[in-house]
Amino acid sequence: EDEKDMVPRPPVVCVMGHVDHGKTSLLDAIRQTKVTSGEAGGITQAIGASVVDVNGQTITFLDTPGHEAFTAMRMRGAQSTDIAILVVAADDGVMPQTIEAINHAKAAGIEIIVAINKIDKESANIERVKQELTEYELIPEDWGGSTIFCPVSAHTKEGIDNLLEMILLTADVLELKANPNRKARGIVIEAELDKGRGPVATMLVQKGTLHVGDYIAVGASHGKVRAMTNSRGERVTEALPSTPVQIQGLNTVPDAGEIFMAVDNEKEARTISETYISQGKEKLLADTKQRMSLDDLY
Ligand code: GTP
Ligand code: NA
Ligand code: MG
Repeated sequence: EDEKDMVPRPPVVCVMGHVDHGKTSLLDAIRQTKVTSGEAGGITQAIGASVVDVNGQTITFLDTPGHEAFTAMRMRGAQSTDIAILVVAADDGVMPQTIEAINHAKAAGIEIIVAINKIDKESANIERVKQELTEYELIPEDWGGSTIFCPVSAHTKEGIDNLLEMILLTADVLELKANPNRKARGIVIEAELDKGRGPVATMLVQKGTLHVGDYIAVGASHGKVRAMTNSRGERVTEALPSTPVQIQGLNTVPDAGEIFMAVDNEKEARTISETYISQGKEKLLADTKQRMSLDDLY
C-alpha cells in the first residue's frame, strides 16, 4: 500500500471492565453529552456502534463489550479497536474482570485509557484505584508512568468531556491512517436475522470505502450490499474507514468478529465463501495468496 494513499481516520474505541462498573452508563453519558438538544431523549442505539462528534473530530465507539469482541475477533486474527477505555468503579476498585480486560487489551496491543467511574459516590477512592492498577503496569503520568487516568461520573457527567479529549489526544499520537481508495475490508461487529430484512450485519469498515452495490464475502456468507444504515439509523450509500454501518444483502448471518472483504463480482464473492465453508480459512488463504497479498485479503 502506498503511503500517499493513506489518510487520517477516526479512532475506534471500546469500553471494557468489571461487571456493573458502568460501561453501558458511560457510553450512554458520552452519547448524551454529544447530542444536540433537539435530539435529546431520542437517542437510539441504532446499530451497535456510535459515532460521536467532538468539536469537529470523530470517535467511533463499539457497543459490544470489549472482551467479547476481542475474543471473537482474535480467534480470526482480526483487530477491531485502537483504544480501550478501562472502566473501574471508584468505590469497588480493581476486580477480576478488570484484570481480564487489561490482559485482553495488552495481548491485542491496544492503547488503554483508564476511566475511574462513579466519582460522585461518597465511597469513591480515586487514589486507591490508581495504586491498585500500578500492579498491572498502568501507572499515571503524575506518578512517572504513561497511562492516562480520567476520573468520571456517568451519572453527573463530570469528566466526560475530558475523557473524550484524552481519547482524541491518544488517537493523535497513534497517527491512525487508512486508504479510502481501495476495495473495502473490515469486520463484523454483530449480525442477526431480521424478520423483514433478512440477514443484517453491523460492520466496521477498516480499509477502503464500502458502497451500496458492492459484492462482499464474509466468512461463510456472501452477497451484494443492498442497503446501508449509519449509526444514527440513516440510509447512506458509502462508508469510509472507521465507519460502522449496518448492511443488508448477505445470504446468511455471519459470525461476529468475521472479516469481510469487497470483491469484483458475485462469482468471486461466492467462490470465497464456498471455499471457506468447504475447506476453512487456512486453505482459502493459501489458494488466494497468489492473487492477493495477505494484508489485502485479511
Ligand atoms: P454490565 O454490562 O452488567 O457488566 O454492567 P456495566 O458495566 O455496563 O454497568 P452499568 O452501566 O449497567 O452500571 C451498573 C450500575 O452502576 C447501575 O446501577 C448504574 O446506574 C450505576 N452507575 C454507573 N455509572 C455510575 C456513576 O457514575 N455513578 C453512580 N453513582 N452510579 C453509576
Ligand atoms: Na450492569
Ligand atoms: Mg453493560
